[in-house]
Amino acid sequence: MPAAVERTLLLLKPDTVHRGLIGEILSRIERKGLKIIAMKMMALQDSLIEEHYFFHREKPFFPEIVKYMTEGPIVALVVEGDGAIALMRALCGATDCAEAAIGTIRGDYGLTIRYNLIHASDSAETAAVEIPRFFDETEIHPYARKILE
Ligand code: CMP
Repeated sequence: MPAAVERTLLLLKPDTVHRGLIGEILSRIERKGLKIIAMKMMALQDSLIEEHYFFHREKPFFPEIVKYMTEGPIVALVVEGDGAIALMRALCGATDCAEAAIGTIRGDYGLTIRYNLIHASDSAETAAVEIPRFFDETEIHPYARKILE
């Protein structure tokens, strides 16, 4: 039975933008068959980062997350598809790039846990909170795929 159609929030972090890897990562998402239905470049305010990483607020590396996420713009996306949440986590690889399998985004392009290129929602519940944090409903553009003649 096919997995349910899901939506997930992705953030292409400042290291992805600085290193010119936006296209490479978008290409992997598209080639997998997932559908990009929202996308924008943003400079994140500290308040939005603190809200997004609330669960890490007590961690010793929390100030490093805020610094990292303000080192340049990010690209936020909503991606849709069958089982999109687990699929995107699989495409990203382990949080720590040093442990991520070769063939994944983090395994192929990253070296460290902090500069790990991409954020992807970890569950349907998280995606339901994260998507409206970054996108108004009017910025999301679901569409049916057509085969062009
Ligand atoms: P992400 O999956 O977006 O969620 C939390 C982020 O914190 C993580 O990616 C990394 O960018 C960062 N992070 C996690 N662990 C560490 C760490 N030990 N030191 C620095 N940054 C970290």
